[in-house]
Amino acid sequence: MKPLIAPSILSADFAFLARDIEMLNDSEADWVHIDIMDGVFVPNISFGFPVLKYVAKLSKKPLDVHLMIVQPEKFIPEVKALGAHTMNVHYEACPHLHRVVQQIREAGMQPAVTLNPATPVMLLKDIIRDVYMVLLMGVNPGFGGQKFIAHTVDKVRELRELIDATGSKALIEVDGGVNLETGAQLVKAGADVLVAGNAVFSAQNPVDAIHLLKDL
Ligand code: DX5
Ligand code: ZN
Repeated sequence: MKPLIAPSILSADFAFLARDIEMLNDSEADWVHIDIMDGVFVPNISFGFPVLKYVAKLSKKPLDVHLMIVQPEKFIPEVKALGAHTMNVHYEACPHLHRVVQQIREAGMQPAVTLNPATPVMLLKDIIRDVYMVLLMGVNPGFGGQKFIAHTVDKVRELRELIDATGSKALIEVDGGVNLETGAQLVKAGADVLVAGNAVFSAQNPVDAIHLLKDL
């Protein structure tokens, strides 16, 4: 099975955002990955809903929204208003994760749970059947263009085993440091969805870069 590819617009040229979204519309990208940061949960701030409203208007691809913020449940209505396909919340930001997952589903979106590099996969044991997807971070969240943490490949394998053992249908997505080399290892280990920022937007030809990732 070919992986789903979700380019992250964190690495797009914000002075030409419309051009970059149109490029994605005409590419083999499956989803558009959107990184929202608050400067509290992660040491950076990206963009917020006033900007994303226009991204949502222009994008013909489903939006995969990744909230790197505290109390992400506060923004379920705003994410829903974007028409998002998936809403990813961090395990580390949600003491009442089960409730947040239900709220996202009730709002009509697909709930996904994200794990930071130091958070063990096994902590998902009691929620894995309730989520549409698990997002494993391949870097510490906050910035594009960081080096991939190799242990993430082992986490993908472990998560695949947990999913198979529990009869969950959750997809496995990986975000951070994904390129052709790490992407190949991740797909082999059982990843279903690859997020790529730098590997797409810093490429000479981003449409070709997406095609090559899709072909892994
Ligand atoms: C990191 C973000 C990622 C980021 C990935 O905090 O969640 O989505 O854009 O960028 P690359 O692919 O450049 O590591
Ligand atoms: Zn992300």
